[in-house]
Amino acid sequence: MTQSIDKDRVLIFDTTLRDGEQSPGATMTHAEKLEIAGLLDEMGVDIIEAGFPIASEGDFNAVSEIARNAQNSVICGLARANIGDIDRCWEAVRHAKQPRIHTFIGTSPLHRAIPNLTMDEMAERIHETVTHARNLCDNVQWSPMDATRTEWDYLARVVEIAIKAGASTINIPDTVGYTAPVESADLIKRLIAEVPGAEDIIFATHCHNDLGMATANSLAAVAGGARQIECTINGLGERAGNTALEEVVMALKVRHDIMPWHTGVDATKIMNISRRVATVSGFPVQFNKAIVGKNAFAHESGIHQDGMLKNAETFEIMRPEDVGLTESNLVMGKHSGRAALRDKLGQLGYEVGDNQLKDIFVRFKELADRKKEVYDEDLIALMRAGEDAENDRLQIVSMKVVCGTGGPAEATIEMEVDGRDITETETGDGPVDATFKAIRKIHPNQAHLQLYQVHAVTEGTDAQATVSVRLEEDGMIATGQSANTDTVVASAKAYVNALNRLLVRRDKAGPGSDTREISYKDVS
Ligand code: KIV
Ligand code: ZN
Repeated sequence: MTQSIDKDRVLIFDTTLRDGEQSPGATMTHAEKLEIAGLLDEMGVDIIEAGFPIASEGDFNAVSEIARNAQNSVICGLARANIGDIDRCWEAVRHAKQPRIHTFIGTSPLHRAIPNLTMDEMAERIHETVTHARNLCDNVQWSPMDATRTEWDYLARVVEIAIKAGASTINIPDTVGYTAPVESADLIKRLIAEVPGAEDIIFATHCHNDLGMATANSLAAVAGGARQIECTINGLGERAGNTALEEVVMALKVRHDIMPWHTGVDATKIMNISRRVATVSGFPVQFNKAIVGKNAFAHESGIHQDGMLKNAETFEIMRPEDVGLTESNLVMGKHSGRAALRDKLGQLGYEVGDNQLKDIFVRFKELADRKKEVYDEDLIALMRAGEDAENDRLQIVSMKVVCGTGGPAEATIEMEVDGRDITETETGDGPVDATFKAIRKIHPNQAHLQLYQVHAVTEGTDAQATVSVRLEEDGMIATGQSANTDTVVASAKAYVNALNRLLVRRDKAGPGSDTREISYKDVS
């Protein structure tokens, strides 16, 4: 069990794979979850919340496998306040060297109203469920969801019950991002001072970013005595997201003078995992995002560049290399060889075997022929493009799109559908519309297009465009991505990628098989 003995050590609890994955459309595949968990484990994250095992077979399998693979981190699963959830969670995490069960219930008046439990009935439920979890596992975390809108007396009462029942970590979630720094610090301070037994356990803070204060609230909670911060890579999460791991880790490093706490995270791994999470979740990082945004270390104005050349500290409070950003991310061109490609992919977190390298090298050369300079982001996009293709039921074979000022655009698409070759032509309002209509003619479906987003991953008119497409069908959501120097080709492939993922989800789906169909409110 990882418990802090150093009073200034703050445990980092990463919930990218649970709370982060709950962002609509951020669904990751099994392989992607394992990869991200591996990177978190390697970078020194203390606790990984790997998923919500009762939510689906997929979640259960991912948590179990992450638990088996983890080398250093505690592996935690989420469970509502009922015996079935907790048993299922334990089944999944028990394989870990250091397992943890995290169980929760909504304690604020609004949340109490949903399961229709009286205060006393809920208190009894907390006692029963935490006791049950503790009988299975000696590392139990308990959360009163919406703690920051729970009446003080009731919050103090239920926290005491959970501690007495055996919880060794009490997490205080600001579920709707409602609190502010002063209040966040005071709440933890008061709980530690007034709840019997509080001095023997660890208080955690779990902040959502609805008012843009999540990181500030988390650090304030630490000032109040919390010693575990719950966060996600890139701040991924529902609505405005969660506290961003990279922000708390770097804030504690850079302002150690006024915040004398530290984490065990290797900050030089931040950039790599940030990019991987952006890619696999389909949520690109905004350019001006602190620490990991594309512009976080860019100095374009003349006065800034001049200052930077004389002394980097003029405009930088941390160095790019502190977060793993190498001096120049210009990597390769058409003369680069296989060994250089393998080496670069390794630096980006991809270990490739000889056969895979052969295949990627061909695609890299094709790209390098089209583009003068190939950047890290281009390679990441290239790797990602090849990841799903193998088992896809729908594949684009060729496409031709005509567009211009003279009339509607026309797209002719040739696709392989379960091994059958089909070609269709459609017109539309612009090349992307015509392309999507032709794909729908080949593979009729009711999926509703929720999001269509284009990002240039590098600079220049020959930049690769990364396109994200989010589809929804019967409550199921799937995100597809693709990158290409041709935006329309990337759009077609992203759309087909999302359709393939929807097909996989539909095949696997049984009732209640999706996280979003599981209600947090359902405690019975
Ligand atoms: O935000 C929240 O309250 C949560 C709980 C499940 C801990 O994510
Ligand atoms: Zn949350």
